[in-house]
Amino acid sequence: MDTAPVAPGRRLLAGHALKLWREPLDFFRSLPQHGGVVRIGLGPKNAFVVNDQDLLHEMLVGKAELYPQGLLSEKMKPLLGDASSTLSGEEHRKRRRMMAPAFRQQRVNGYVALMTELSEQRGAQWRADEPFSLRTDMNDLALMTVITALLSSEASKDAVAELHELLPVFLKGLFRRLVLPGFLLDLIPTKGNRGFTTSVRRMREITEEVIRAYRADSTDRGDVLSIMVRVRDEETGDTFTDSQILNEIMALVLAGTETTGNMMTFAFQNLARRPDVEARMHAELDEVLGGRPVTADDIPRLVLTQRVVDECLRMYCPWMLTRQAAEETELGGVRIPKDAFMIYSPNTVCRDERWYPEPHRWDPDRWNTDRQPPKRSWIPFGAGGHICPGNIFGRVEMIVHIATIAARWRLRPEIDELDPGAPVTEIGSAAVVHPDDTPMIPTRRTTT
Ligand code: HEM
Repeated sequence: MDTAPVAPGRRLLAGHALKLWREPLDFFRSLPQHGGVVRIGLGPKNAFVVNDQDLLHEMLVGKAELYPQGLLSEKMKPLLGDASSTLSGEEHRKRRRMMAPAFRQQRVNGYVALMTELSEQRGAQWRADEPFSLRTDMNDLALMTVITALLSSEASKDAVAELHELLPVFLKGLFRRLVLPGFLLDLIPTKGNRGFTTSVRRMREITEEVIRAYRADSTDRGDVLSIMVRVRDEETGDTFTDSQILNEIMALVLAGTETTGNMMTFAFQNLARRPDVEARMHAELDEVLGGRPVTADDIPRLVLTQRVVDECLRMYCPWMLTRQAAEETELGGVRIPKDAFMIYSPNTVCRDERWYPEPHRWDPDRWNTDRQPPKRSWIPFGAGGHICPGNIFGRVEMIVHIATIAARWRLRPEIDELDPGAPVTEIGSAAVVHPDDTPMIPTRRTTT
């Protein structure tokens, strides 16, 4: 068995840490040319990056038992406890079975009305020609969408409002904890750390109260929590405990906010650079919606809007996710030692030029064909047992919000001259690709 090739540019003690710090996205995108599995140095330690889509399938699907969750989920455990994103094996499969009914297509269709209402409210706050932070607004819209879908009843209205205040403190603190090494820094009682600890405690209290209220009256309120308090696993007969529900809710909010918020920001930033695509999308929205709110039945007819979303998913999906080898094994002919730190990048796979010509160009029309790329090269939501449970929800959410906003507003960045050929800025930190925070100027549209 061979050892995996080492990516060029490794330094004696730092390994590739400097490259990862300075230019993580370019560095990751350069790795496939060096092999299907490539070794990189994180300080003196090795990590194995799996680039080849078939080997990745082997790791995530075929031999998933050999590669349980890795470092990212270890870092999450103190905050998310036993949420499904931190579990592996049989316990994980059971959790996913129990969560599944809340995220099926039909159930998600039931969340469309609340999504439309939220994006209408958001757009109503903008003033024509007054710049605003699109990134802040899209992240906040994504946050409100996920908490409202989780807890949509009248009884949880106050809780949603308070969670909406507290969650940004939590997400900011968590983000810092993911980026910085170790938890030692988190123990220092700085103002930020105290705010983080208080927000976590209060969020848990609020959510526990809502769970108690739902348990006391177990009617289906059409939201995610209603399912969680009622569901019984068909194989084991198990039900969720309050603390499991709490942890799952935290994990869903965490995973379902920046991912969709950032992508919606990227969508509008790119549309501003491609007025030709934007004009066609506006025409589609005017024809299909004719000025009325989006419904689930409209989505199949919003063909170009869907392509705009799929192109954003392809280009801006997570760039670094982790696993750990449970035992010594082999992948693509190279030796993987026990406990090896494994990394995969949906973002790199979705930019493979064999299936996506000019992969770094944002082009929704690439989906305008019968020839779809191979399934294994389309993994914005991951693959295998840990595939994103919010994949249908997130895609529908983005379509609905983008359609609702674009039907009423045209957004342009507040910069002197827009170069339509220049790609939008991408920032790779934590696991997700972030857009920059260029203010946008809204102009009102009227339906044609
Ligand atoms: C554009 C939107 C999104 C993208 C690109 C995305 C991407 C992903 C990916 C790639 C994974 C797999 C991680 C791995 O292999 O370790 C994942 C997992 C997960 N996602 Fe998403 N996601 C999105 C939206 C959402 C939403 C809206 C929710 C919740 C409502 C959500 C909840 C989760 C959870 C809980 C997991 C962990 C699943 C597990 O480990 O079993 N995601 N997501």
